[in-house]
Amino acid sequence: MADKVGVAVIGLGGAVATTAAAGIEMIRGGSNDRRGLPLADRNVAGMADYRDLHFGGWDLNGDDLATAAIRHGVIGDKELANGAALLRDMKPWAAVGSTNFCANIDGANKFAAAGHRAAVERIQADMARFKAERSLDRLVVVNLASTERKVDPAHASLASVDAFERALDADDPAISPAMLYAYAAIAADTPYANFTPSVAADVKPLQELARTRNVAVAGKDGKTGQTLMKTVVAPALRDRALHVDGWFSTNILGNSDGLALDDPKSLASKVDTKKSVLDNILGYPVEDHIIMIHYYRPRGDDKEAWDNIDLTGFLGQKMQLKMNFLCKDSVLAAPLAIEIARVLDLAQQRGDGGVQEQMGIFFKMPQTADGGEPVHAFNEQQLILDRWLDGK
Ligand SMILES: NC(=O)c1ccc[n+]([C@@H]2O[C@H](COP(=O)([O-])OP(=O)(O)OC[C@H]3O[C@@H](n4cnc5c(N)ncnc54)[C@H](O)[C@@H]3O)[C@@H](O)[C@H]2O)c1
Repeated sequence: MADKVGVAVIGLGGAVATTAAAGIEMIRGGSNDRRGLPLADRNVAGMADYRDLHFGGWDLNGDDLATAAIRHGVIGDKELANGAALLRDMKPWAAVGSTNFCANIDGANKFAAAGHRAAVERIQADMARFKAERSLDRLVVVNLASTERKVDPAHASLASVDAFERALDADDPAISPAMLYAYAAIAADTPYANFTPSVAADVKPLQELARTRNVAVAGKDGKTGQTLMKTVVAPALRDRALHVDGWFSTNILGNSDGLALDDPKSLASKVDTKKSVLDNILGYPVEDHIIMIHYYRPRGDDKEAWDNIDLTGFLGQKMQLKMNFLCKDSVLAAPLAIEIARVLDLAQQRGDGGVQEQMGIFFKMPQTADGGEPVHAFNEQQLILDRWLDGK
């Protein structure tokens, strides 16, 4: 029998997580044909099949996943009747949260840990229970929770593993919930991926811990819509010597991710990860690279992104390129979260610990092992992932 892989999700009741969990249940039930899953055609030895993934996880909102999914409005009664009924029986575990890090999002399904160490022990106990109860062979942790505010990576508590451990003992407020989950996973030798812009396994001590314990980690912030298109188009403009004078990007979205980003501090985290790609690909700074994200309720999960690009070409002639992506935020994101879980699990099986650079294609701000500049161009990232999947 094939190995069973648990996917322990932070933010299990969210729009992306419920869409991913429903999609996998529907594959198991035979009512989802795997469309939209980027690695569906890849047959890689050791990579878990979609039907062997099993979702569990934490959320501040204790609603069962069917109730949560209906609230998000991405999947609904049709999918629940057509293979995803199990979502009614899936309830998130009590979460570690802090409105100090995510001002607009709170919930009653929170455990009042006596301190950071108690929180870490509780997270690890949840993971162990999940593995035992569901007879799982392996486990990965994926962060799909709301975006937290930025933290100062130069903070003294984030300078080394020792400093981080002391900060845990002292319940230092510099340690965020996202970091507690990431630490709990890595210290329990469980691979960890961060689909959100929050600061987590990318801080120095956690990256170091992952390397020394040989635990696979990857992040951060899923590259799903506007930034995906940016990293597809920008390399072509570069290679055709079309100079980018300015790139104006704006978005409207009305899901609860949008609500979290309505807090200026969480928004700053997102804009940071979205901004990082362009100068890197083009090789020169685009001074007028403007990114705006607006919470606009009527759109729900049907996010709309516009891009206006001002260009200068041959003989100094000016041109413009316009892009308008009417997408479904969670329908783009859920397949990536699923592929991230599979590739991360494969990396751990192959004994590849530390930062998984071949997974950069999945992220807006790919982590690198030495903290250097990542590869952002989509075509180059695809080659890197393909080579790794082929074992080269
Ligand atoms: N296309 C996309 O949807 C996309 C792309 C890139 C990144 N992301 C990121 O993925 C994350 C999830 O997006 P979403 O649309 O599902 O958001 P969502 O708001 O629907 O879901 C987030 C869930 O996390 C829960 N949560 C918040 N803090 C928590 C904590 N400390 N512990 C456990 N649960 C917690 C919330 O209660 C909520 O159910 C966001 O950070 C978003 O920025 C999404």
